[in-house]
Amino acid sequence: MNWSVGAGLEGQTVVITGATGGIGQAVTHAFAATGARILATDLDQHRLDTLLLEIPGEGHLAMAMDLTSFESQESLMERAVSELGGVHVLVHTAALLLRRSNLDDVTEDDWDAQIDTNLKTTFFLCRRAANEMKKVGRGSIVLFTSQSWWTGGFGGAAVYAASKGGVVSLSRGLARSYGQYGITVNAVAPGQINTPMLLNDLDPAIYEKMREETPLGYVGEPDDVSGVVIFLASKHARYITGATINVSGGYLMY
Ligand SMILES: NC(=O)c1ccc[n+]([C@@H]2O[C@H](COP(=O)([O-])OP(=O)(O)OC[C@H]3O[C@@H](n4cnc5c(N)ncnc54)[C@H](O)[C@@H]3O)[C@@H](O)[C@H]2O)c1
Repeated sequence: MNWSVGAGLEGQTVVITGATGGIGQAVTHAFAATGARILATDLDQHRLDTLLLEIPGEGHLAMAMDLTSFESQESLMERAVSELGGVHVLVHTAALLLRRSNLDDVTEDDWDAQIDTNLKTTFFLCRRAANEMKKVGRGSIVLFTSQSWWTGGFGGAAVYAASKGGVVSLSRGLARSYGQYGITVNAVAPGQINTPMLLNDLDPAIYEKMREETPLGYVGEPDDVSGVVIFLASKHARYITGATINVSGGYLMY
């Protein structure tokens, strides 16, 4: 056993979605530091290219796409296999939050966009990645849920919360199905983390209340999450699957 922080990740291919998002950037930097090779994806190619210039190591790739397109998901996995030698780890951070403080303002389009992006895409992306992992008999999938899977969400996030509850159920179902192939599937549940997703349209009074109610006394930073993802993808977590890891500074305790 290599007891370095990123045990087993050196030279492995890690596909990271939402890579230019607040948490995705921190996760990308962290994996690059372990010696892994990264296929980073998000919506904007220029932002991805800039990110790759910032991270250590060589042979990383960046590919802009809308992940809700199945054709794009297929191209992503094909590139991981043909240019980086496979898919060893999938870290799926990409998600959409549309806050509507009055539930009467939630439209069918709001519903469809969040459930499609956060839940439907997650299932098909994981299945495609797992089919590559099965070929080598190992792999790690790290999904992102939220404190809202437990609380129902704050500040108009009921639909988002429902999608993230689905991600927890899905992670458990995938873990049961894929364990026999040596594939672990776990979910990270951040509490409040300072990123565009948290701050967009959030009432400052709710932000302050969340901070006050966090035992560690501050709203988290993306690097408070990235180490947990490295752990889940590394050999240190090889006997953990179907878990939801609460990373909330004690805001929630379960
Ligand atoms: N920030 C928080 O406080 C917080 C709390 C709980 C859970 N989370 C979860 O953590 C994960 C990362 O969140 P974040 O705060 O970094 O958000 P973020 O908004 O900063 O980043 C999300 C990224 O996903 C990308 N994305 C969205 N839709 C996409 C699509 N259809 N195709 C491709 N890319 C798409 C966006 O472009 C963005 O870069 C999310 O799953 C989120 O739900 C965050």
